[in-house]
This record gives sequence, C-alpha cells and structure tokens, in this order.
Amino acid sequence: MNHVIATISVLVLMALKVITASTETCKLGKISNQCIDNEPPCGYCGEYISITIIVTNTLVEPKFLSEVRVEKEPQQTLFYFLQLAVNQNSNLKFSSTYYAKLGFMVDTINKVTANVTAQTYWRIISVTSGNKPLECGVSSYIPVQGEVILFNFTTWSDTQNEKDAAFPQCIFGGCS
Ligand SMILES: *[C@@H]1O[C@H](CO)[C@@H](O)[C@H](O)[C@H]1NC(C)=O
Ligand SMILES: *[C@@H]1O[C@H](CO)[C@@H](O)[C@H](O)[C@H]1NC(C)=O
Repeated sequence: MNHVIATISVLVLMALKVITASTETCKLGKISNQCIDNEPPCGYCGEYISITIIVTNTLVEPKFLSEVRVEKEPQQTLFYFLQLAVNQNSNLKFSSTYYAKLGFMVDTINKVTANVTAQTYWRIISVTSGNKPLECGVSSYIPVQGEVILFNFTTWSDTQNEKDAAFPQCIFGGCS
C-alpha cells in the first residue's frame, strides 16, 4: 500500500515538474508597465484573462464606436487580442505595418487610416488605468484581467502634450 502511494507521489511530482518547466520557457521576457522587452520565441503565454476592446473614430467619415469583450483567453500581446476581437465581430477590421524591433503599428481600423499629412493616428489608451496611453505598441503590450483598451482615432495636436508609443513622431523620428 505504502509502495503504491509512493509511486503515485513520484508520478504527481514528475507531472508538476513538466508543467512548471513548460510555463517557465514560455515566460522569458521582462515586463515593465505591461510592456514586454523581449518576447520568447514561442510567444508570451499567461493565465486566462478577459478584456474589452473599444474602437472609436469621431473625426472623419465613417464615424463609429464599437466594443468587443474577449472572454477567457490566455494572456498574450494586445496584437493577439485585437485579432480575437476581429474573429468575434465580423464588422471589425484592422490592418497594420510591421516595423523592425518595434513590431506592428495599427494603421487602419474599419477603413479609417492614419494619415501623416492630416496628422491623424490611432492612439491606444488603457481606460482602466485612468485613460493612460500605452507606453509601447500592440506587439509588446500585455493586457491584464478586466482591462478596457480604447483605440481612439485622434490628431497629433490633440495629444502633443502627452506623446505616446503610437505617436507617429515617436515611431519615425524618436520622441524627445
Ligand atoms: C491624407 O490627408 C490629406 C490632407 O487632409 C488628404 O489630402 C489626403 O487625401 C489624405 N490621404 C489619404 C490616403 O487619405
Ligand atoms: C479621442 O479622440 C478625440 C479626437 O481627437 C478626442 O476629442 C477625445 O478626447 C479622445 N478620447 C480620449 C479618451 O482620449
């Protein structure tokens, strides 16, 4: 009897070790202010979370406001959650450009495109953190449980005093 219990304990310990090891390999990057500095090759993967993504444009036609709740998905970058939101809502579409090291920048949501001449862009804000703009782009930002994230079509002049990670001058010329 003792022998059977001992064998089962060993098996349980071995299983736990395998689970712990795989979680560790998946969580290599360092995160500060919800920004991951170096995503592991297999992608960041955390606990299951639910978040809300809101996209709104009040500046040009077509104006819109839409909200998608993404329920119980493994914690990953915001870029991944944005794709899940599109999978859930067939009216929602986005496109983005990849910049070396910086990752993806969202150019267009629902046919409304950032425009350097018109000085417009898609600003990303954490509503839950008191409407604070994100300190990194969609490829580095790791949302947390219950977070509400807003993609707001805005102008450079409206955000001039508080530049953010998506601010075009920060991406193309560096922020001072
Ligand atoms: C960008 O904005 C300028 C100035 O408002 C406008 O003339 C131009 O057509 C816009 N470009 C695109 C691709 O929408
Ligand atoms: C969204 O952008 C519009 C247009 O620039 C601005 O008036 C509004 O204050 C912004 N909303 C937030 C929450 O920043």
